[in-house]
Amino acid sequence: MLKKAVVFASGNGSNFQAIVDASKAKEIDVSIELLICNNEDAYVIERAINSGIDTLLVDYKKYTYFEIESMLIKQFKEMKIDYIFLAGFLRKLSPYFVTHFKNKILNIHPSLLPKYKGLDAIEQALANKDKEIGVTVHYVDEKLDNGPIIIQEEINIMGIDSEQVYQNVHELEHRLYIEAINKVMEE
Ligand code: GAR
Repeated sequence: MLKKAVVFASGNGSNFQAIVDASKAKEIDVSIELLICNNEDAYVIERAINSGIDTLLVDYKKYTYFEIESMLIKQFKEMKIDYIFLAGFLRKLSPYFVTHFKNKILNIHPSLLPKYKGLDAIEQALANKDKEIGVTVHYVDEKLDNGPIIIQEEINIMGIDSEQVYQNVHELEHRLYIEAINKVMEE
């Protein structure tokens, strides 16, 4: 049965695009109902407009976490949202929100978690001259970039320049997020 999901993103939105494209191509049994964004200048908003998906801008400078998350919980309930996909969302979600949607929130992170949680995971792997890097999709719990791993894949980056590393990681992300969504839908 077709599930309903929202995507949370703050920046470029290439993962948002990959999910929307997979939905439109029926590679996943999920319809993307809404984009939640906290940055009015983010390119992801333009992607949403071009894809015919509404954006809800959330202003963390004007409202508290509790006010924003209560509003989202109410709205998602009314919309009968089944899943939340985090795709480069640069705000933490509170335990209140995460508990409400237990095992319904997925996140993608550009590292072999539990390695390099937080910001700049790829930069950290490059600075440490790691031989391999990776991408993880996991269920979200109360801690940052934590929670049970759904799928994880490693790529060898020996002798590859940094620009190519970023490109390879993002390509892997776009494929892996779709695989993770399909895996979750089958469970
Ligand atoms: C992606 O690399 C994603 O893994 C990362 O933000 C980027 C968003 O790119 N997420 C995190 O670091 C989460 N801690 P995008 O805007 O092009 O999808």
